[in-house]
Amino acid sequence: MTTKTEQVKIFDTTLRDGEQSPGATMTVDEKLVIARQLEKLGVDVIEAGFAAASDGDAAAVARVAEAVRGPVVLSLSRTKESDIERAIRSVEKARRPGVHIFIATSDLHLQRKLMMSREEVVDAACWAIEFAKRHVDYIEFSAEDASRSERDYLTHVFAEVIKAGAGTLNVPDTTGYAMPSEFGELIRHLIENTEGGRGVTWSAHCHNDLGLAVANSLAAVRNGARQVECTINGIGERAGNTSLEEVVMALKTRADVFPDVTVGVHTEQIYPSSRLLSQITGIAIPINKPVVGANAFAHEAGIHQDGVLKDKSTYEIMRPESVGIESNRLVLGKHSGRHAFVERLKVLGVDLADVDIVKAFDRFKALADRKKNIYDEDILALLAEESGRAPDRYELIDLSVQHQATHVPQATVRLRIDGSEQVQSENGDGMVDACFKAISAIVGQAPKLDRYQVTAITGESEAQGEATCSISDEGIRVNGKGVHTDVIMASALAYVNALNKLEYRRRHQKQVRVEGP
Ligand code: KIV
Ligand code: ZN
Repeated sequence: MTTKTEQVKIFDTTLRDGEQSPGATMTVDEKLVIARQLEKLGVDVIEAGFAAASDGDAAAVARVAEAVRGPVVLSLSRTKESDIERAIRSVEKARRPGVHIFIATSDLHLQRKLMMSREEVVDAACWAIEFAKRHVDYIEFSAEDASRSERDYLTHVFAEVIKAGAGTLNVPDTTGYAMPSEFGELIRHLIENTEGGRGVTWSAHCHNDLGLAVANSLAAVRNGARQVECTINGIGERAGNTSLEEVVMALKTRADVFPDVTVGVHTEQIYPSSRLLSQITGIAIPINKPVVGANAFAHEAGIHQDGVLKDKSTYEIMRPESVGIESNRLVLGKHSGRHAFVERLKVLGVDLADVDIVKAFDRFKALADRKKNIYDEDILALLAEESGRAPDRYELIDLSVQHQATHVPQATVRLRIDGSEQVQSENGDGMVDACFKAISAIVGQAPKLDRYQVTAITGESEAQGEATCSISDEGIRVNGKGVHTDVIMASALAYVNALNKLEYRRRHQKQVRVEGP
């Protein structure tokens, strides 16, 4: 007997909720690059932004809507007429446009944030859906803070919005408060008790404050949800959202536990997507992150290594290749020609239309001069560094550091600002500090350095160092990333990248503080 399977849709909100992760703001071009990769990954829905939040967000949603052909492209919207109009306008060029309307339903939010009665919230939600539905057929409704909302009222809200025309009903655990058993039971209760609830798609949107976002999403699927909202690498507000790679690989790897569902994602695109996002946002992937972390498939203990050599399935429940990790294979070197380079890009699934091959090959050659063995990870890092990056005001030309155990370290930096070169030397409390001080002196600003980290992209002592730093100034926080075989150079590149992003953000500040219904 065969079981009838249903598809669990993957709704990716990296470009909207993910972008709310501290410092993760992306430029319009960067969002476009991510959206194309999400399409290649095979997600069903892309939430491209919140059009009413700023002109930049509206432009990003519009560009993604125009570029992406497969997935539905949505803009988030409050129940306000002006928001909905902007959302509709931003997705008008999409092949499959949609609008995602939300309003809070917990008494706490109604009384302390919205200052609205329960019936006012129902009226606002239904009005907004009916209004949007006149222009766009695909409407998702979210009851913000659903997991802390009173059950009967929540059921009532959902029944009314179904009548108003919403086809997807999203149940957010906005504060990451729910336990898997509770959240699964809530989904089942809503499906069984909401009038019209069996003819719509139920969706789970979980936050990770207690580390339960993936577990809660899986519990939702077990109980009838047929859409999961998630982000690449689990980035998002506070502790983040449900991680796409974890939830997808859990559904695939434990198909025995989920026999009645399938997922359409091309899993071999998971690792390239993860690295691309990390490169663009400057948010490093923790080494122990499931599925995509550097140690996710590393076996340290002798007994494990022995077992894996005899039979991989002794200690591996997924194959690295299934998520696009080519197990660090040596691919190219100094003597590789352009043909071999382009062939490798094809094997890696890179869309050649997105790459300036001449520039990429030049950078590859420069890297091959410094590094004997070039791995797939190096090539992906090199491409991601270029893709859709903010137009740079500052460019690092050269750097030299002097350091002897008995002397104060000194760094001399040559930087190009708006086309003209400047040089500065500074002493510091360590080489990186000296280097950052010299850069700060040239650009005439010293934002607060909130976080700084260096990791190696691959093994070996000549591996490329990947530096990430997070800086903030006047309430704006950005992340920068730099990759180089010399870790001081990687650090300087990360700092300069962060300064360029800070410039960009100052010019494209969010225009409205998003609050209210
Ligand atoms: O977490 C949340 O409640 C949200 C909604 C806007 C869907 O992101
Ligand atoms: Zn959210």
